[in-house]
Amino acid sequence: MDKNTDFNDMTARKILCIGAGYVGGPTMAVIAHQCPDCRVTVVDVNAERISAWNSETLPVYEPGLDAVVRAARGRNLFFSTDIAGGIRANDIIFVSVNTPTKTFGAGAGMAADLQYWEKTAREILEYAESPKIVIEKSTLPVKTALAMERILNSRGGDVRFDVLSNPEFLAEGTAIRDLENPDRVLIGSRETAAGLAARRVLEDIYARWVPRERILTSNIWSAELSKLVSNAFLAQRISSINAVSALCEKTEANVTEVARAVGMDGRIGPKFLNASIGFGGSCFKKDILNLVYLCRTYGLDDVAAYWEGVVAINEYQKERFVLNMMAAMFNSLAGKRIALYGFAFKADTGDTRESPAIFVAERLLAERAEVVITDPQALPNARIWAQGLTDRGAGSLFETGAGPKIAFVEDPAAAAAGCHALAVMTEWPLYRGLDYERIFRTMIQPAFLFDGRNVLDHERLHAIGFNVYPIGRPPLTHF
Ligand code: UDX
Ligand code: UDX
Repeated sequence: MDKNTDFNDMTARKILCIGAGYVGGPTMAVIAHQCPDCRVTVVDVNAERISAWNSETLPVYEPGLDAVVRAARGRNLFFSTDIAGGIRANDIIFVSVNTPTKTFGAGAGMAADLQYWEKTAREILEYAESPKIVIEKSTLPVKTALAMERILNSRGGDVRFDVLSNPEFLAEGTAIRDLENPDRVLIGSRETAAGLAARRVLEDIYARWVPRERILTSNIWSAELSKLVSNAFLAQRISSINAVSALCEKTEANVTEVARAVGMDGRIGPKFLNASIGFGGSCFKKDILNLVYLCRTYGLDDVAAYWEGVVAINEYQKERFVLNMMAAMFNSLAGKRIALYGFAFKADTGDTRESPAIFVAERLLAERAEVVITDPQALPNARIWAQGLTDRGAGSLFETGAGPKIAFVEDPAAAAAGCHALAVMTEWPLYRGLDYERIFRTMIQPAFLFDGRNVLDHERLHAIGFNVYPIGRPPLTHF
């Protein structure tokens, strides 16, 4: 094909995704499922991850994912480590490699680390022999597409590349539902004839199952920025209600009642107003810091400070939770045993990236408490976290004398036995249905319960005998 070939003459699409993570895997599985005539291949440098995608135990826990993968895998959905072959054989290439926060050099702790992105762009350039539409799926700083275009066109060869931005808005735990029935799909492109043609190709793929009016198009920079801003707005709502939760605790107001009253204003809406121990997940903090860095880069220091406040409140909320635990438990946690109910950053996922439970666990260990961790899906990742502590040599910081300092217990009732306190970290529905009378009897008295998600029945737990500390509501104690 020559450089000017457009993609309109291709009906059955050959699609590649580079990056088989929480985003790439589920997104491609749904595209393959919805478009049986498209051939979808997902590649990754991580051979272990690819073999998990090809096995019965997928590397990502996501409700509904198993069924979608099972229906399409081997038919028109393939997982492979052959990145070069994938680039050669496919016309449409999604890039969904990770873009973590930079840990070194300029912008450390703020800017996105784009090294994997650039490496991927160079791989595409190296192996492409025919025209490609390259689609940014990863969340990226505004203008990354420009860098991508520059790399792809640096050889000045006869292969044509069109770069699109198609940010992913799925939330973990509801990824399949979000992908099958999205609020919107956003596709940004260059507003040139070639850019618009490439955009139509992608629009037509989504239009197989997404109503046309939900497929938004924009210029490429708006698309890139919209993703950062969407996440910043969502996180801002959580920080707003969490800030209010601190005030509620001082004033005997109830944050749930306040959120209900505020959320019934149609202009505000009821979603994302659950006060919590703080938001976690791979995106919110990273994307806001990215936005902050972007603002600073353009000299917009006041705008940067405004968004930075969202992250600051989140840190404050997590720290406040630990300090409340300490104050309630007679200002000493040393040698006390505390069960953490949940380790995932939210329910319905095994993902623990930026989970507030990690913050709490590390702070408790630093106070020389013992931590018992239970979670229906996240124990493998919790074990990796604990191993990381040991590898970093941080283990010695957490010496408590005899006995294990971190324990992993699958059964939540067993996890609580012999503990001084329970702390709910993740809103798994199963924690609502436990036999708390029995649990209470196995705990050391006075028994404390800290509900970091406000999901339990506090009055009932108080009646059983617990000293209950919710978020944003007065505590119910027996003192
Ligand atoms: C990633 C980004 O982190 C996020 O910013 C974006 O919005 C979507 O893609 P996620 O899928 O959750 O999110 O990341 P992760 O689960 O870490 O998956 C990324 C995958 O890319 C990993 O499996 C990694 O092995 C792979 N990868 C990374 C490559 O295949 N090649 C590389 O050069 C780097
Ligand atoms: C988020 C965005 O929702 C999604 O659109 C984007 O593509 C990726 O980032 P995710 O991080 O997977 O998705 O989950 P989300 O449901 O947004 O929850 C993020 C964090 O906020 C979790 O720790 C959750 O427990 C917390 N949260 C959410 C609250 O504390 N209160 C709320 O009311 C809602």
